[in-house]
Amino acid sequence: MTAPRIIRRLDVLRAQVAAWKSAGESVAVVPTMGALHAGHLSLVKAAAADCDRVIVTIFVNPKQFNNPDDLASYPRTEEDDARKLADYRVDLIYAPDADQVYRPGFATNVSVSGVSEGLCGAHRPGHFDGVAIVVTKLFLQTQADKAFFGEKDYQQLQVVKRLVTDLDIPIEVVGCPTVRDADGLALSSRNLLLSAEQRLIAPAIHAALTEARDAIRGGADVAHALEDARRRILDAGFDSVEYLELRDAGDLHPLEVADRPARLLAAAVLGKIRLIDNIAV
Ligand code: PAF
Repeated sequence: MTAPRIIRRLDVLRAQVAAWKSAGESVAVVPTMGALHAGHLSLVKAAAADCDRVIVTIFVNPKQFNNPDDLASYPRTEEDDARKLADYRVDLIYAPDADQVYRPGFATNVSVSGVSEGLCGAHRPGHFDGVAIVVTKLFLQTQADKAFFGEKDYQQLQVVKRLVTDLDIPIEVVGCPTVRDADGLALSSRNLLLSAEQRLIAPAIHAALTEARDAIRGGADVAHALEDARRRILDAGFDSVEYLELRDAGDLHPLEVADRPARLLAAAVLGKIRLIDNIAV
């Protein structure tokens, strides 16, 4: 199949979406920063199964990177991404020029408190403000009816759900399950940066979370289970564990006992690469 059309300008996007909407068609958006992998493609599949039209956005959003090296090294693979999307029912790729998102003089912030605090919010200052502003813009620019996000970025998903509710943005946010390699490693664009040796170590996060979840379900003390999991990740070869916590699955409030639907979330650093993962408890 041929790769979907790439649109770089907002006025062109708006005209296309207006035509779809006047024909009564529903529109899905899958926001991405490119470097597409099977996790993104599962979102595209879910979007195509649900809506008449599918837009995939590709925009490496500078505002959500608190570390300039991280932004500089983020993989940019647009041609390859477009080729991958050719196998799916995608109507267009919106890969806006930077000035279509942040015009000269841009001065607006969107900040979501509560769910964006702690976890990645504590370790990546400004990250969720950057995500919140770009997602708000992409929702308003695409005017999509539904947006598809992976549960791998679980805190991000809760931030996006909160802002849509608080700002009355007329879009439904759909969370989709994390896609994993056979050894449990959650798919992430950052996995491309792992050396062969680091790739062997990386699945330890998921293994540790799974073990902690089973221990907690079996009645183990939460603090002990979290400490064991942290130790297991470090023993496997990670350089540090930024956080490993049990949180309420909805509002991400910290939990000391698993007495309601909960989520175990972790971030750990391997060399220069920071990996995150989470599972339901
Ligand atoms: O999850 C991502 O890839 C990004 O944070 C998103 C949602 C596309 C916003 O830039």
